[in-house]
Amino acid sequence: MPDASSVVVCPARNVGGVVRIPGDKSISHRYAMLSAIAEGTSRFHNFSAARDCYSTLECMKALGSSWKKMEDGSIEVVGIGPRLKAPSAPLDCGNSGSTIRMLSGIVAGQPFMSELFGDESLSRRPMARIIKPLSEMGATIESQEGGRPPLRIHGGHLKPIRYKPEIASAQVKTCVLFAGLFADGESFVEEPIRTRDHGELALRAFGVTVERSGNCARIRGGQNLHAIEAQVPGDLSSAAFFLCAAALFPGSQLTLPGILMNPTRARLLDLLIQMGLKVSVAQLEEHNGELVGTIEARGGSWKGVTVAGADTAALIDEIPVLAAAASFSEQGIEVCDARELRVKESDRIATVATNLRKMGAEVEERPDGLRIPGGQRLHGAELDSFGDHRIAMAFAIAALRAEGETTIRGAEAAGVSYPSFFEDLRSIAN
Ligand code: S3P
Repeated sequence: MPDASSVVVCPARNVGGVVRIPGDKSISHRYAMLSAIAEGTSRFHNFSAARDCYSTLECMKALGSSWKKMEDGSIEVVGIGPRLKAPSAPLDCGNSGSTIRMLSGIVAGQPFMSELFGDESLSRRPMARIIKPLSEMGATIESQEGGRPPLRIHGGHLKPIRYKPEIASAQVKTCVLFAGLFADGESFVEEPIRTRDHGELALRAFGVTVERSGNCARIRGGQNLHAIEAQVPGDLSSAAFFLCAAALFPGSQLTLPGILMNPTRARLLDLLIQMGLKVSVAQLEEHNGELVGTIEARGGSWKGVTVAGADTAALIDEIPVLAAAASFSEQGIEVCDARELRVKESDRIATVATNLRKMGAEVEERPDGLRIPGGQRLHGAELDSFGDHRIAMAFAIAALRAEGETTIRGAEAAGVSYPSFFEDLRSIAN
């Protein structure tokens, strides 16, 4: 049955126009956290509209900083320096894995106990990956069975660490680097595969020295942060939905101004080009270490692809929409090495497979991936978001090429990362 937050998506004949994508979620989280522990008042233009980033701002407020939305839409954060205040209530991280994992690194360095909790989806997500390094650094952390939230973090004096995470995770790397700010000495994080580097770039923007060599990042504790004014680039993972929409229609033409072009995120563009989307990037600029550019995309052919190894890590957030869109490609898609998808906001291997099958697609579900044959004809269906923002949006894109209408139940989940997604989609679909 459709619910109050059901959205009906009709098939389109083409897509075209300009979409202004809200600020990048990963960068906004990091700026919100670092501005709170900086000295002075920071100002962020095009801060993410994501509900998740407001969870972070509110947690930082509960820890003593303050924030407000200005008349021009920018966000102002008044930092209180590295010593935060003990929160008077548990910190609500909502649906946000980034909030709970990265903030844990900061509260681990505070001389008080913080409790961090989240919604039902976040309460199922694994936290052992951050509990382990933070415990080695000297924090005491209580969790639920299997290392799940809520977390009770007894912070205090931290020792530096040389940490080699087993999984490739930018959240874990950033958590340890943030904790490293409060350790007496130098901490190192050596990643198995290079992940997004917004943590390192944001720390540098706030005046912290972070060295990198190969896959290893290094930070010295006790450094002070100063406030900044920054323009947050448009979120490439949100742009991915529209780029995939453009790829589905040979005559499409889309312009996406001011999009994040950070090389640790932009593998998506290489892949879409390989699949046949025509992409050009203009007006390349750098803002606080982050590359930004205007993307022009035109549909052409739509060929199949295999995503594996380091590419899977680099495209982890885009795989749901790539998979949904690739069922219309000539050869389909094979996604390998993607076990991490099972512990995102939903089990994204299962939720992608379930929704594609409801649309009539043939899908092979594997423990660590998917194989979806190409050249399929999908029909409209009644689908569920499973409370997962990227599933709601990925299937709105697939619905553009299906035969008949598609209803997406729980579509309001899109607001977790992109509240105006359905309006923006309507504005480009003909
Ligand atoms: C993020 C890292 C990724 C990604 C998430 C945002 C970040 O998670 O899926 O949406 O901002 O660092 P992992 O670190 O768990 O891979």
